[in-house]
Amino acid sequence: MRLILLGPPGAGKGTQAKMLAEKFSIPQISTGDILRKAVNLDSELGRQAKAYMGDGQLVPDEIAIELIREKIKEEDCAQGFILDGFPRTIVQAEKLGETLKEMKLEIDAVIDFEVDPHELIVRLTGRRSCSNCGAMFHDETRPPATAGVCDHCGHELYQRPDDNKETILKRLEVYDSETMPLKEFYRKRGNLKTLEGRGTVDEIFSQVCALVS
Ligand code: AP5
Repeated sequence: MRLILLGPPGAGKGTQAKMLAEKFSIPQISTGDILRKAVNLDSELGRQAKAYMGDGQLVPDEIAIELIREKIKEEDCAQGFILDGFPRTIVQAEKLGETLKEMKLEIDAVIDFEVDPHELIVRLTGRRSCSNCGAMFHDETRPPATAGVCDHCGHELYQRPDDNKETILKRLEVYDSETMPLKEFYRKRGNLKTLEGRGTVDEIFSQVCALVS
């Protein structure tokens, strides 16, 4: 199964991608996670990406495309994958289409999460992530048992540097101008499935599973 999860920052793409990856035993490929890891390692890629991410801008298309091209050819993607946060521009979507065509593969579904912008801001300003296993929590709606500590592995929780209100607003603006046109792009290709992203994480997960089964 090959899926694309589409939706604005905070729509729940990462949360649902992790659950889908576990259920279907296929990898979640998050360009955001790959880039954050590179920034933390201070690698060449990380140094290139850092300023864009800090400003809530997209990294240049060539960087994101190259990351995905390499990744989807790896062995663990042979049975499928979940793209979380890619593509984000028409150019990225076209290049992805070309790469998949070369590989004689197709995307099965593009799941588009629609969530009210006010709700997105609440979700993102309260999000806390585990520095070790990547598990996600929320100050109010999904608090860890012990404040600041991951329930799963006991490591410290942190707040992403781009989860402040000013940068969140910028990210939402960039989503509207750069990524929203992808809905039409995939609608025309017949594989867009839109979900009202309201409801609990488990409710949304059931809806996603129903769409892809
Ligand atoms: P990225 O890491 O992809 O961030 P994003 O798209 O802004 O998405 P988020 O991770 O913030 O949100 P999400 O939809 O995954 O929601 P989540 O499940 O975490 O990208 C970061 C940056 O990297 C970009 O700004 C850009 O610079 C760069 N980048 C990445 N990919 C790129 C690309 N392809 N091209 C160019 N640049 C790229 O949930 C959010 C919160 O809500 C959590 O606290 C969660 O617990 C909570 N939550 C989830 N679901 C629910 C629910 N149903 N009800 C209540 N709360 C919920």
